[in-house]
Order: sequence, then structure tokens, then C-alpha cells
Amino acid sequence: MNDKKAPGIYWGEYESVSNVDKAHFEAFKRQSPADIEKACRDENGRLRHIINAEHFDLEFLTTICETAKAARRIDDGNREFLGKLLRGRGSINLFKQPSSRTWASFSRAAGILGMQTVDIKDVSTSSEVKGESEKDSLRTLSSYGDALVCRHPSDEYDLFGLWVQKSSGREIPFINAGSGTKRHPTQGILDYYTINESFKGNIDGKVVAFVGDCLRGRTVHSLAKILALHKNITAYFVAPEGLQIDKETEEYIDTRGVMVHKETNSLRRVMPLADVVYMTRVQSEHGGSGDYNENFKFTMDSLDSMREGAILMHPGPKRDEIAPEIDYLKGDQRVMYWRQQRNGMWTRVALLAHVLGVDDKIREAYKEYAKIGLDRK
Ligand code: CP
Repeated sequence: MNDKKAPGIYWGEYESVSNVDKAHFEAFKRQSPADIEKACRDENGRLRHIINAEHFDLEFLTTICETAKAARRIDDGNREFLGKLLRGRGSINLFKQPSSRTWASFSRAAGILGMQTVDIKDVSTSSEVKGESEKDSLRTLSSYGDALVCRHPSDEYDLFGLWVQKSSGREIPFINAGSGTKRHPTQGILDYYTINESFKGNIDGKVVAFVGDCLRGRTVHSLAKILALHKNITAYFVAPEGLQIDKETEEYIDTRGVMVHKETNSLRRVMPLADVVYMTRVQSEHGGSGDYNENFKFTMDSLDSMREGAILMHPGPKRDEIAPEIDYLKGDQRVMYWRQQRNGMWTRVALLAHVLGVDDKIREAYKEYAKIGLDRK
């Protein structure tokens, strides 16, 4: 397929400087995956930098889900409590690729916790246009906040962001809000929360159909890796040959016991088998559409052939891969993609609370609420 080369990291205009920076970054990247993961954790083993879904375990995910649930219930009755938790702290949201959901939900999540946000989406106003390297720019932004949330087109920006923190002398939590075609760990968390809520925690044995751009859809890669933490998961990758699941993700989940199937012709045959139908758009910003066609779209008829209890998800943004009439079905419990977006805000509240160490306060407060019956609102 005619793939575009992913934009890289900007190292500044001067080779005398960029060669030194690049050499340090290359040395950092030569660490083993285990050492990189260790670098993401604090001295107690708690994840502080969220760069890669491969670092998650079920204990972490369960805790995030519990915190998210507690926060949204508390918010119903006592918004001030949440707003005091991180009052005066700062979240820097740097998005170098377009985003609606991830950016707005992180920004709102920070606000719910009382944080101030600096939102940078128009990089033409950054001092990088004056020749400042991305390394210096990110380090500068880090000095104004308590957490960094970044999106970038480069596949290695997750490691870059971590490296900048590790070499800065003033390390703050770095959260990867989508890097290149590979990783979108916080989308993986919100998708996991949505599935966990839908199936009341019974995820073992579920069949998940990932449909669309399995090759370049970073949300597919992150969620597939997360689900591989469960037992007896079956994954169907429903995409034309040119958009089929990448080798790295396939090998990762296969090694962890996921039963992998590839369907290259049509969604129709897989529909009745799936508990979760996870639609995605063709990521055309990365090049061709790899023979994607109508057979991979979710129609009104597809709804009728869904398994009992199955759900329809989409990370967004959606285009025409789901029949538009489905948006107008009121209260249909199968249609999960709008709820999924709202779940994004609450899981990001939980995540910010986690990396900044106030998540236990949310869960403790919720327990108190439960004692006096306010949790049943
Ligand atoms: N799902 C997702 O990442 O959406 P945005 O690109 O709008 O943030």
C-alpha cells in the first residue's frame, strides 16, 4: 500500500546541537523494554508515565475503572469535592495532531479535578518556528505544569516524551495521548472501561471483532493488547489484506493466548460471533485505503445479526463506516460509541488522579457515600 512516511521529531536547525540530543535519545532507546517500563514507574512500582498499553496489568485497570466510577458518582452530588483534589495544579495539553475527543476530555478531566490547563493545539504559534527543538520545547512546557498530555504523529514520541522527562531534572507524569500509528494507551483504558461496564466485569472468553484499519489504527493495537490480559479472548481482525493487523500486535497477543482470526472479505460472517464489534475508520492521513469497501461497513442489517448482549463500539472520529441511522436509535443498549466518549472523560479523571496520587481519596470518599446511600443516585 502507498503509505506516507510518518513525520518524525523535530530536532532543531543546528546539527551541532541535534547530533548531541539524538545520541542521548538513541542511548535511552537502547534500554530493554523491562527497563523502559521500570522508568515509567515510581519507587513503589506505581505507573507514573502512561506511554504504552503493554505496561498495564489487570490490577491497574481495575483500579482505574473503580476510580472512574467513583468519580462520576461523586460528581452527581458533590462536585466541589473533586474540584478541590488538585486545585492549583497544572496540566499541559500539547496536541500536534488533530483531536476532538482526547484533547477535550483530558482538558475537562483536569478541570473537574480543579487543575488549570494550558492547551496547545496550534503549533504554528510555538517557538519551534523560531528553531527551538521539540526537546527544548517539551522541557520548557514541563516546567510550567504537574502533568503533560501529548499527542504526536511520530511512532516513537512515547519514548521521546519519557526521555525528555527522565533527562529534565524536573520529572512530571507524561501521558501519551496518541503517538503515530502504534499507541493510544488512554483510549485503550476508556475502551476497556466501556467493555468492563457493559459485561459487568466478565471479559474472559469474549469475542472481539476489530473492523476497519487494523494496520494503522493505534486504538486497535492498544485495546487488543489490553484485552490479551484476559483469559480465552478471541480476536477477529476484519479488514482487507492491505489493512490487516500488523505483525507486532498479532505476535504480542498471540503469545499471550489470544485466538487470532483474520477476515479479509466482509464483516457479515463475523457479526453473529462477536460480543464486541469495534469499528474504526480508515486512517487515510497515513496513505491509501487498502481495498477497504462497503463490505466492511456496519449497516442497519448488521444490528439484527448481532449476538445477544453484544455491543457496538467506535473510538471516533467516525465517518461513514457505521450507518448514520444508528445514531437516532434512542436508548439502544447495543450502541455504545456515544457513551464510550463520555467514559473517556471519566477514565481520564481517574488517570490524572492516579498519576498525581489522589485516586485513593476518590475511592475512599465514594465508600463513605455508599455507607449513607448516596451512591445509588
Ligand atoms: N479517539 C480519538 O483519539 O479521537 P480524537 O482523535 O478526536 O482525539
